[in-house]
Amino acid sequence: MPGVLDVITGATLAKYNLHWMPTLMSDMQMVLPVEKVMYQAQEVAAVLATDRYTAADGVTAVEVAYEPLPVVVDPFKALEPGAPVLRTDKPGKTDNRIFHWEVGDKAATDRAFRDAAVTVKEDIYIPRIHVSSIETCGCVAKFDRVSGQLTVWMTTQAPHAIRTVFALVAGHVGLAEHKIRIISPDIGGGFGGKVPVYPGYVIAVAAAVLTGKPVKWIEDRMENLQADSFARDYHITAELAAQQDGKLTALRIKTLADHGYTDAAANPSKFPAGLFHICTGSYDFQAAHVEVDGVYTNKPPGGIAYRCSFRVTEAVHTIERMVDIMAHELQMDPAEFRQKNFIAPERFPYTSALGWEYDSGNYSGALDLAMHKIGYAELRREQAEKRQRGELMGIGISSFTEIVGAGPSKHFDILGLKMFDSCEIRIHPTGKVIARFGTKSQGQGHETTYAQILAEELGIPVADIQVEEGDTDTAPYGLGTYASRSTPTAGAAAAIASRKIRDKARKIAAYLLEASEEDLEWEPGKFYVKGSPERAKTIQEITFAAYTNHPQGMEAGLEAVSYYDPPNLTFPFGSYICVVDIDKGTGEVKIRRFVAVDDCGNIINPMIVEGQVHGGLTMGLAPALFEEISYDEQGNIRQGSFMDYLLPTAMETPKWETDKTCTPSPHHPLGAKGIGESATVGAPAAIANAVVDALWHLGVRHIDIPITPEKVWACLRARGVTDR
Ligand code: CDP
Repeated sequence: MPGVLDVITGATLAKYNLHWMPTLMSDMQMVLPVEKVMYQAQEVAAVLATDRYTAADGVTAVEVAYEPLPVVVDPFKALEPGAPVLRTDKPGKTDNRIFHWEVGDKAATDRAFRDAAVTVKEDIYIPRIHVSSIETCGCVAKFDRVSGQLTVWMTTQAPHAIRTVFALVAGHVGLAEHKIRIISPDIGGGFGGKVPVYPGYVIAVAAAVLTGKPVKWIEDRMENLQADSFARDYHITAELAAQQDGKLTALRIKTLADHGYTDAAANPSKFPAGLFHICTGSYDFQAAHVEVDGVYTNKPPGGIAYRCSFRVTEAVHTIERMVDIMAHELQMDPAEFRQKNFIAPERFPYTSALGWEYDSGNYSGALDLAMHKIGYAELRREQAEKRQRGELMGIGISSFTEIVGAGPSKHFDILGLKMFDSCEIRIHPTGKVIARFGTKSQGQGHETTYAQILAEELGIPVADIQVEEGDTDTAPYGLGTYASRSTPTAGAAAAIASRKIRDKARKIAAYLLEASEEDLEWEPGKFYVKGSPERAKTIQEITFAAYTNHPQGMEAGLEAVSYYDPPNLTFPFGSYICVVDIDKGTGEVKIRRFVAVDDCGNIINPMIVEGQVHGGLTMGLAPALFEEISYDEQGNIRQGSFMDYLLPTAMETPKWETDKTCTPSPHHPLGAKGIGESATVGAPAAIANAVVDALWHLGVRHIDIPITPEKVWACLRARGVTDR
């Protein structure tokens, strides 16, 4: 076909041993298959053409002959004896289990359950969902045969880590790390979905190297929806134990994690189930035990952290649903029940039963504010009246705890790369600044907030500060942006690097003012001599002197770099309250009000934080009521396009009412905690709890998300409720 340059198959890549690549969890993923495909919509060949239209025609001309193989869709069946073993590429593999992982004190937990006055148990499924960023994944790869330099402009959230992975995987064909430049330009959303390496990137690079021509790959919407990494897909059985007076004592959880055909989760390597063991949430438990089994099925790889710090959404949904079930079981008000069991503010730093050291928190403060703002007592009265009249109204609470900001590097690495992050500041002679970071904004506004941190620390106007991220040739090494880690890590690095600059600036100021360093006072923008404010040097004067008149024996220039390794994670939190009305005729859930109180410690930019919360809430609404990826028994995807995969629009999105409390992190240099994902993590449980609260008196204990009108309608009809 004219215009088609080549067709690349698994066999082409196999010649260079590039047909498989490692995943971020050190499993193996196919770039292109050689003999067996693992799921519907898996890439099988790549057509290289001179323009997009010819490439599309070329793709339709590719004929693939498939022989059917036994299909494993259900992860429970995948573990049954005799189930077809999917990963026949793994020598000696005789089943479909990827890992078994457990944490906590099993004996103490079992004892607490034996001694408990009340226990509750529920099966909770958190379905597969998919990041639907405005921009799909893509790249342009260019290989210069003369210099041996590979440049890839790509939609990645972690450019440095990707460069290292490319160098490790393709080192044997001559691609060395210093000859690889990854540039992540402005990208249209990431949300965790742009952390993994996808086959398209590798094929584009291989094609650029083989042909010597620049090669562009861009997914279409359906390829993106059907074949990129998925999130969630946790089958959870959770149990709570409590005393008769409502004091919680123990938590026990067993989970089956469906990873698709390969474990391509973007988890820190020590944690195969991510940070799922934050599942004790905001509550004080004596004992807890969690088990997770990872399973292979014939689906695309799963387990990415979709606007979520590595499985925190799953953890929060579970504990917040269970706490509500227990409160109802004990006939206690869910708000009062939470207040009774919260970790008290004076107990921080608090070590949880599963080993996390929470830095700071005031959970009752956030819930009090949310209750006050929404008028909780009045709503409960209204609900009681409506129930008398047979109307269905529910009030749901989610008082969640987050865990964001990986490192510390002693516990956190990805493929061995320690999870710190970085900031490099260069101040030029005229006082203008370039600051570069190892993170990569995907719309979170780092350019603004990082500049604010520097401006605050150095007294240099924001307009004089240029923030750059995403170019591995210029930015200092960092692990990238996901899991709300940028402020806790690179934000802290910005403060620390600024303070290093200030230390040197103090020395130069002392020299210029002929004063001793100890006699100088700092106020943003200048040093002055204590008691003589007129004897001062501005940061601009000091900077100029750093290049023109610096003390002999001191190195010239004003630059600093910080590779910040946080001593702990940060633990933002919030309390959300949702009010729903349910239509008995259609089962439709209408969110009447939603109050979100967040606490991310000290805030750098209130408007950006507000935007993060609004977007996050809408991304929490989505899986609560609309979004799900499922498969039929043959492994066919049921939601392969946006006709079936329901993204909420402005029509379905309620008015979000937001507020905040402020509990600074004691270890972060600015007292800040992350915020990017809090709302996505906290919102689904508030909505689900509101729906079940509306239906509890009918005997409904739990409905899995997404809570579609069809599911609610079926619940109502099964209990004889009609709209008449
Ligand atoms: O890693 P990611 O940027 O997604 O998440 P983040 O660290 O929570 O930051 C999201 C945005 O909110 C960034 O622009 C932060 O600088 C800003 N932010 C803030 O202004 N104050 C905070 N306490 C936390 C975040």
